[in-house]
Amino acid sequence: MRPTHVTLVDVGPRDGLQNEAQPVPAATKIKLVHRLQAAGLKHIEVTSFVSPKWVPQMADNAEVMAGIARPPGVRHSVLTPNMKGFEGALAAGADEVVIFAAASEAFSQRNINCSIAESIERFRPVAEAARAHGLRVRAAVSCALGCPYQGEVGTDAVVDVAQRLLDIGAHHIGIADTIGVGTAGRVSAVMEATLKHVPLAELSGHFHDTYGQALTNIHACLQLGIHTFDASVAGLGGCPYAKGATGNVATEDVVYLLHGLGIHTGIDLDALVDAGAFISGALGRKPVSRVANALLAK
Ligand code: HMG
Ligand code: MG
Repeated sequence: MRPTHVTLVDVGPRDGLQNEAQPVPAATKIKLVHRLQAAGLKHIEVTSFVSPKWVPQMADNAEVMAGIARPPGVRHSVLTPNMKGFEGALAAGADEVVIFAAASEAFSQRNINCSIAESIERFRPVAEAARAHGLRVRAAVSCALGCPYQGEVGTDAVVDVAQRLLDIGAHHIGIADTIGVGTAGRVSAVMEATLKHVPLAELSGHFHDTYGQALTNIHACLQLGIHTFDASVAGLGGCPYAKGATGNVATEDVVYLLHGLGIHTGIDLDALVDAGAFISGALGRKPVSRVANALLAK
């Protein structure tokens, strides 16, 4: 059941850099994307076409998209909360748009200023327009393992939102542990329930590593055959609307785990560590990756 090949989506340029207190120049973001491409990443979440009033760190979205090389075979995704975001994404030539709903009402309000039901209605035309233009539609389900405002989130709520996102045209569902509280048993239960609705090839895990459980949670997903995961180079990031949440699991750590299991990723770990060292240096700190720090200390 365990996969032989895993696709990693590096969300560092988006999920990572959206949370930086200091502005990161577009040129630095572009260099980071190029280093990720050079390391063998075939899927990169580059930026967000969200309101710059809400997330000023992503206000340079069009500049970043215009500045990156577009090697064939690499998919570049961007977040789109509404039609205005979709129009920006289309003009920028994104390959895939990401719509992002939550399994918790409280988080939906804080993150995108509307209820879950309203968000689905806002995403409906985005998904329709994306499909009409031949773009892929990826959907994230935030707070699938817990919410910073409402606490526990039931599996039924996760499955319900995932199904509604499929119904409006999402190709892919990403189960997101926004605040990194999930443990392997709960993650397996949520994934098993979601797999009754979403094909294995179109289900992924997005684990923030706040409680240090992300690698174990990925391992639990591998046992179910899940073979797509988001990760963030150097463990960058967090969510501006989930206080205290740390970054996604570091891509370097996930690659080390997978290669240790004999699972192919197509990623060159040394080049990836260089990419993480580059962006961490630009931010003036060490990578949040045990593997990167161990390899850099050699
Ligand atoms: P709102 O204030 O309710 O919307 O925000 P609005 O339609 O009233 O617009 C307010 C202003 O923003 C207007 O400008 C709009 O034109 C502008 P004004 O008239 O005041 O000058 N605006 C936009 N500008 C550029 N691009 C747009 C856009 N939309 C409106 N697309 C809205 C609603 C959804 C826009 C807002 O709440 C928002 O942008 N939220 C984004 C929040 C966000 O980016 N969060 C982080 C990403 S999600 C995440 O990290 C979770 C994830 O990683 C998975 C996980 O870990 O859980 C994916
Ligand atoms: Mg996230």
